[in-house]
Amino acid sequence: MPLLDTTAIRADFPVFEDRGLHFLDSAASSQKPRQVIEAMADFAAHGYANVNRGAYRLSVSATERYEAVRDKVAAFLGAGSSDEIVFVRGATTGINLLAHGWGSLRLRPDDRIIVTEMEHHANLVPWQMLARRTGARLEFIPLGEDHRLDLSGLDRLIDEDTKIVAVTGMSNVLGTIPPLDVILAAAREVGAFSIVDGAQLVPHQPVDVSTLGADALVFSAHKMCGPTGIGVLWARPERLEELEPIEYGGDMISTVTRYTATWAPIPQRFEAGTPPIIEAIGLGAAIDYVEKIGRQAIADHDTELTRYALDALGDVPELRIHGPVDTESRGGVISFTMADIHPHDLATILDQHGVAVRAGHHCAKPLLEILEVPATARASFYLYNTTEDIDALVEALRDAGEIFGVI
Ligand code: ALA
Repeated sequence: MPLLDTTAIRADFPVFEDRGLHFLDSAASSQKPRQVIEAMADFAAHGYANVNRGAYRLSVSATERYEAVRDKVAAFLGAGSSDEIVFVRGATTGINLLAHGWGSLRLRPDDRIIVTEMEHHANLVPWQMLARRTGARLEFIPLGEDHRLDLSGLDRLIDEDTKIVAVTGMSNVLGTIPPLDVILAAAREVGAFSIVDGAQLVPHQPVDVSTLGADALVFSAHKMCGPTGIGVLWARPERLEELEPIEYGGDMISTVTRYTATWAPIPQRFEAGTPPIIEAIGLGAAIDYVEKIGRQAIADHDTELTRYALDALGDVPELRIHGPVDTESRGGVISFTMADIHPHDLATILDQHGVAVRAGHHCAKPLLEILEVPATARASFYLYNTTEDIDALVEALRDAGEIFGVI
């Protein structure tokens, strides 16, 4: 049974005042608790000024509060220093920064970039474009029959020519959590720049960069009870020193003359322009919220809900799950199709039961090609979900099956 006190948790989320809502789309974006909404509103109303610029008290205190969130993120991730934390727009922006600011300068023709076959477009397209720009080769750790990665050819894939290894921490389609330790160790062995796309992982499990073994990790606040518009790039300081800024302007410089400029120290050199200040306050409040509940407790709750859902969905006729059907090394993301019902039609019927799921290719088209389906419906769980949400999903699926005459 789910381990969290979901009655108390749901009371924190204004959206659940709608008792009929079964929100199963947190992998796309999570709901926000009052604590985050109020922290942002209060800061916007009473604490707001631009940061790093003013000599007046309001700006100084806004700067202190903005920088305090950087410290909080560093502690949250187990980073050695707040200087390793770059605020970005989201995981996507963090990956693009690495591809442009590191990859474009360092990759040569026939170098290798390694990703997996289960990447979100955010951790695929930037590498495709980098390969196109530099002549490097993009190669894939394949998916096995069991919807987990097949690492049997890893030695061949990650070799002396491999310069970048970028891997998802958790598939946003399958829920699969890859053996990061093995992949990252192989990357380390050859000195490749290793990157974890933590968009799905960081909100759901304890992640400690001091033991992760990666060079960089990205995640977005909006999947972790925080606002849109802010995310985090963590990287080892020596990697950040190698990284060239890709946006230039105010706040990222050390000196500027008429024709030249030098950069501020890390991480400021990567934060040109006015940053997402109110959003940073929201991220800080989201971290407080998630930490109060406990990341391991959230992970255990996800696992119990996933176990319950896999059991319940297993009994629905004509339903096919695309992903591991046990809870080993997987998170609370379950993709499915039902006979030949289009997933959008399925999602529409589910919505009539108050069940909100995502339907489509989930920004992972190459993976869906491997799964041999154009689209799936996807249910994803978070700290506020209950077994009642899953019961509602199952009932709605049975109804859809009957409406479309497949069960
Ligand atoms: N990346 C988000 C998802 O998978 C939007 O739904």
